[in-house]
Amino acid sequence: MQVQRLRRERVYDPVLRLIHAWNALLVVLLLITSQLASWLEFSWEVAALWRLHLWCGYLLLIGLVARLVWGLVGPAHARFTELWRPGVWLQAIRKRQFFSPPEAMGHHPLASLAYVAFYAMAWIMAGTGLALAAIDQGVGPLFNALGYAFESKAWFRQPHDWLEELLLAFVLLHLAALILHERLHHIPIAQAMVSGYQYRKEEP
Ligand code: HEM
Ligand code: HEM
Repeated sequence: MQVQRLRRERVYDPVLRLIHAWNALLVVLLLITSQLASWLEFSWEVAALWRLHLWCGYLLLIGLVARLVWGLVGPAHARFTELWRPGVWLQAIRKRQFFSPPEAMGHHPLASLAYVAFYAMAWIMAGTGLALAAIDQGVGPLFNALGYAFESKAWFRQPHDWLEELLLAFVLLHLAALILHERLHHIPIAQAMVSGYQYRKEEP
């Protein structure tokens, strides 16, 4: 039996890991509160659930701003330059090879396409969510511009509703990809956003 040697490096800093955990937890809470509120429809708990949803939304917005700042001033593996890899994405499309084993340390260059998409969707959710807060609940920073403007609601409600499905798909794919990488490529991947350490196969 061949023994595989792994090398280990500290890659993800504690601030990035904290932001990841914060955003992940809030996205899960936002998905749960919106699903529950839609399911309960017109019962009395619904108003409280939408309030909770909005508070989770504000907290997610803080996490998104923190990630933006850290992407500009944080260490190399937290910078946006590591997430933005159009050359690698084009090559993967040409070769039709979308699930390759991780090689260099840092974010997997193909997974980073999904991360960029995630942040774009999360920002649209935050913008449309703030508009819905003003229209439906009469609160928030957009109240002066959109307070109770029900005639404009569809403009914000529809993208907010559609992107919910895509965000759910991102979460499921992200978790599935972490498990699949571990199974297929025999490298501990998921723990990296908890411990900060990444493992890669040693060159033979
Ligand atoms: C359930 C909600 C989750 C969401 C929304 C989410 C979102 C993300 C995002 C946006 C990134 C990019 C990080 C960055 O900004 O630099 C990322 C990376 C990562 N996440 Fe999650 N995550 C979730 C759950 C988890 C869980 C439960 C784990 C396992 C402990 C995990 C492990 C990782 C790892 C290891 C990476 C880096 C992967 C790589 O090296 O390419 N995530 N996640
Ligand atoms: C990122 C994950 C999010 C998910 C999955 C999500 C999901 C949803 C869904 C499915 C609805 C119902 C839309 C409809 O009426 O058909 C909703 C409504 C709403 N969302 Fe979100 N949302 C998210 C983020 C946010 C954020 C970041 C904010 C605020 C900053 C926010 C604020 C709101 C508000 C105010 C409503 C209307 C509630 C009401 O009817 O009183 N959401 N959301």
